[in-house]
Amino acid sequence: MNLFVKNISQLVTVDSGGKRVKAGREMRELGIIRDAAVLCTDGKIAWVGPMSAWDRKLPDQFPELDATGKVVLPGFVDSHTHMMFAGNRAHEFALRSEGATYQQMAGVGGGILSTIKNVRAATKKDLKRQTGRYVIEMMKQGTTTVEIKSGYGLDLDSEIKMMEAIHELEREEMMTIVPTFIGAHAVPPEYKNNKSAYVELVINEMIPYVGKKKLATFCDVFCEKRYFGLEESERILNEGKMAGMQPKIHADELTALGGAQLAAKVGAVSADHLEHVSEEGIKALWDGGVVATLLPGVSFFLSHGYAPARKLIEGDVAVAIASDFNPGSCMSFSMPMMMTIACTQMRMTPAEALTAATLNGAAALNLSSSVGSIEVGKNADLIVANIPDYTFLAYHFGANHIVTTIKNGTILEL
Ligand code: NIG
Ligand code: FE
Repeated sequence: MNLFVKNISQLVTVDSGGKRVKAGREMRELGIIRDAAVLCTDGKIAWVGPMSAWDRKLPDQFPELDATGKVVLPGFVDSHTHMMFAGNRAHEFALRSEGATYQQMAGVGGGILSTIKNVRAATKKDLKRQTGRYVIEMMKQGTTTVEIKSGYGLDLDSEIKMMEAIHELEREEMMTIVPTFIGAHAVPPEYKNNKSAYVELVINEMIPYVGKKKLATFCDVFCEKRYFGLEESERILNEGKMAGMQPKIHADELTALGGAQLAAKVGAVSADHLEHVSEEGIKALWDGGVVATLLPGVSFFLSHGYAPARKLIEGDVAVAIASDFNPGSCMSFSMPMMMTIACTQMRMTPAEALTAATLNGAAALNLSSSVGSIEVGKNADLIVANIPDYTFLAYHFGANHIVTTIKNGTILEL
């Protein structure tokens, strides 16, 4: 709870200047302080500044961490994952390496549907055990806040099983876990020829239950051809809102359907994916103050095109990046890896990528008043990296540079 982190060679605060997000050019401003210190008391950040300005005397026995030669940053906020699943899709990965496409596999009962089969058969305990292991690994790699979606159950009981498992993990793990309901992730096999009946099930049974039991902060929908169209998505998100869940949307991933415009229309907190977002879509996101959450790991893993990060940033939109960790389209939860891909494939700068992975990710979860940057009053979620400069997080890829993860002022033993 209490910790004095001292002699920090480079402190990257990602200071928000009191704002909810950094948009456009502001994403390059990282608020770096050299030879710095951070005081954490009662789990919150109480003081931030250069060592030369520190003139207080702490009580004897006050816990200290010496960060000489290290970089200290805000913990990563991974604002989009489907990390609760059962089984794996390694065979599909192998088939794709030989030329099969993601959509082809979804068409023959693979893809999301094969994970659904496994999740339906799994117990809540199984789901918690596997996801809990990933949570620990993520914290080792610097993630301190993560969003987890349902969406691999797709019947009332299995969706509830997932949502309850996510809630229990949130209570048991040190990680901050944000639950999202996405009953409209795919049409389950038993409704294959009757999608509208499935939409009614989501609206009339799932959303009211999840809302009443307060099992989810957000309601999401996979708005895509052959999944849920614009009108269906709008209805589902509005119903979610009425049940107390804020809207999020998988938008313009495989086709330019207009999901970004819908995000603005329904007041979504974020529009995610956006590989095919149009000029009008970008304008709508800006108008609506919607965070554009890009998932570079998906384009990398599926060998798809990338979202137009530069156009979004030049359009003054606040861009976040997240892992989308799931067994089908991105089997990685490494936020530094996502930063590397964002820099090399989407031409984001390392500074923009870091803002996207911290403060703007927090904004995509409506949490940027408490996490995502190192500022007085925020939660003391800090990570210590054994690198000479923050750019090495993206530059020196494939290695874990995080040596210490601090959650609410406590050094985690991971
Ligand atoms: O975000 N796009 C929809 N859902 C996931 C993929 C889930 C899966 O393939 O299992 C995504 O990429
Ligand atoms: Fe997703």
